Amino acid sequence: MGKLFKTLNRKNTDSIKWELAKKHSNTDDIYTFSIADSDYETAPAIKEALKKRSEHGAFGYASIGDDYSEIICEWYKNRYQVVIKKEEVIPCPTVLNGLSVCLELFSNHTDKILIQTPVYHVFRRVIETNDRVVEENELILDNNHYRIDFKDLENKFNSGVKILVFCSPHNPVGRVWRKQELDKLINLASKYNVLIISDEIHSDIIMQHSKFISLANYFNQYNNIIIISAPTKVFNIAGLQIAQIITRNKEFSEKIKSRYEQLHLSTPNLMAITAVKTAYTKGEKWVDLQNNHIYDNYLFMKKYFAQHGNMLEVLPLEGTYLAWVKINNSKYNSTELTEELQKIGVFISDGNKFGQDKNFVRISLACSREQLINGLEKMIDFLG
Ligand SMILES: Cc1ncc(COP(=O)(O)O)c(C=O)c1O
Repeated sequence: MGKLFKTLNRKNTDSIKWELAKKHSNTDDIYTFSIADSDYETAPAIKEALKKRSEHGAFGYASIGDDYSEIICEWYKNRYQVVIKKEEVIPCPTVLNGLSVCLELFSNHTDKILIQTPVYHVFRRVIETNDRVVEENELILDNNHYRIDFKDLENKFNSGVKILVFCSPHNPVGRVWRKQELDKLINLASKYNVLIISDEIHSDIIMQHSKFISLANYFNQYNNIIIISAPTKVFNIAGLQIAQIITRNKEFSEKIKSRYEQLHLSTPNLMAITAVKTAYTKGEKWVDLQNNHIYDNYLFMKKYFAQHGNMLEVLPLEGTYLAWVKINNSKYNSTELTEELQKIGVFISDGNKFGQDKNFVRISLACSREQLINGLEKMIDFLG
């Protein structure tokens, strides 16, 4: 793999992940595995393209051509074998911004919005800051495998839930939803006419033996689906701020487009345009290499913890680069463990903030093997 996925010093580079770690630690010897943001360079082709673009020296207002959406459609066709049309793609600044705008447009104050906990904690914040009410459809944990509680889902849909914010692949439990699960979900949503907003930001980070199925496959069957996705997670370009909303529902897309025009946010950041075009035309091979690297890190961590008494047990990872780790036989719950580790310079995410459980932590695997080993050694030293 040559120089790919190697340790990168991100201290003092305006990285929120590393600035927060620095702020909350008593030591300079920091290893952070918290925020979902990779700790190595992006794909060489993207770095090169941005370098070339910046050497041009003019950074005026951008224009987004037809080729932009066409490139995204090609990616969907090649990577997920699903056909979407260029007029179905609407650029937006970030996934969470897209979510916030869609909640504002397609629900009313005090409407019930469903999330499937444990889930990416910021969904709750976006829903609540839009004055909507969070309802939870808790995932069921069976034998270290998470599944959807369809009975409860139907009850919640029947009780007047307006929107389901679906996380696919699922952060933090690492599930890549299978066809049977998605079929069932769509059948229930159409029975109760619930809008599904599918956050597919992790769709390119898929481990061996799993296959990502976009909800775009259901566009012709059910007209009440909005997908929000981005190349930012997989290519580590979130700081450039770019995402895409995809829907076949013309009424939705007209409303979304006119809201972005009203907000004067309908053209993306100039550098982001270069990054996205390069990512989706030249980044495929790098994505596959990164997935192998993440899977190797996952196997390494799983074995490492198993060899050290299995106090921390890594659950199966189907997708995302975020390992979901169970705390076994420890005197610490997830909050205590996270806080204690912070004091010695190791930052992981407290599983409790995703809802439901005090017995899990989340650890990002999108780092060099060297960084991972250094962090794991410190964790195990601490746990004794
Ligand atoms: C499921 C999920 N959605 C959205 C985001 C944030 O995306 P953005 O920065 O585009 O708002 C993250 C970041 O970790 C995420 O895990």
